[in-house]
Amino acid sequence: MLDLTGTSALSRSPISSSEQVFLDCEQARILVVDDHPSSRMTAVALLSVEGYEVLEAASGAAALKLVVESNPDLILLDVMMPGMDGFEVCRHLKEDEQTRLIPVVFLTALNDRRSRIKGIEVGGDDFLSKPFDRLELAARVKSLVRQKRLNEDLDHAEQVLFSIASAIESRDPVTGDHCERLVALGKAFGEYIQLSRAEIRDLSWGSYLHDIGKVGIPDAVLLKKGPLTPEEREIMNEHVMIGERICKPLRTMRGVIPIIRHHHERWDGTGYPDGLVGEDIPYLAQVFQIIDIYDALTSERPYKRAFTSQEALEVITSETQKGWRNPQLVEQFTEFIRTKWHSPAS
Ligand SMILES: [Fe+2]
Repeated sequence: MLDLTGTSALSRSPISSSEQVFLDCEQARILVVDDHPSSRMTAVALLSVEGYEVLEAASGAAALKLVVESNPDLILLDVMMPGMDGFEVCRHLKEDEQTRLIPVVFLTALNDRRSRIKGIEVGGDDFLSKPFDRLELAARVKSLVRQKRLNEDLDHAEQVLFSIASAIESRDPVTGDHCERLVALGKAFGEYIQLSRAEIRDLSWGSYLHDIGKVGIPDAVLLKKGPLTPEEREIMNEHVMIGERICKPLRTMRGVIPIIRHHHERWDGTGYPDGLVGEDIPYLAQVFQIIDIYDALTSERPYKRAFTSQEALEVITSETQKGWRNPQLVEQFTEFIRTKWHSPAS
């Protein structure tokens, strides 16, 4: 445990053994933003003693510049500052993909309820009252830095998955920038049928990750020229289950997994892997399947030219008549393509 209660804090050894483990891999960097030199210096002194690298900024604008240059692990941010106040600084940071994961701790006056509510609204992660309680400061900082590192790990794990997916795509020379086009089409059609933002995000991620399980399919099957034997087809079909297993440990993949597992189901139950029928097929998997097929049809492949939009819709309609697709959804998709979507192939 930290020993911050005594007056000897400033003179004791900077890092206790338990903190050493935590800080060993990389010294955490804290940015203190406060226009009052005295309270800034207090925070800097306390944090330096704890073994953190501490940076200082005396204004919101200076803080934003320093964040970009130094990528701190945590920001202690005064609320009341001339010019850009703390809320505005926080809003900027949380809107930016590069800085949104950096925890922001607002420094407020004790019992300043309004500031706390506003701080939550702009995405602040925690609050500390001035004057500082040393013990509280150390505990909050430690826990938020640790949380940030965990979040970063999670983000890295997602990035690894996307890298694997793009490596698989690059092994298949016929698909080109299939995923990018799926993302654009999925977003536009998703908005058209009023999917939520989270569902559209899942659809976008599904566009990249739906075939990630192909990483577990032997080259002899995956890259075989010519038709697959029934045994090879069975092996190939396993990609949906392999993909599910790869992504399942990540909480953020929860909405994407139904797309990965069920993007080859058919409305009449003749698809795989579960032979689900009708509305039992997860809705996003149904949506994804239609945009995936439409993109494949309207793209050029070594064995076929790019179909026009009209031809692609005719193929999808005939598949729907065979019982493979959700008729209502296909109707919406047809309407969307005819009225809203201007594909280069149309
Ligand atoms: Fe697939």
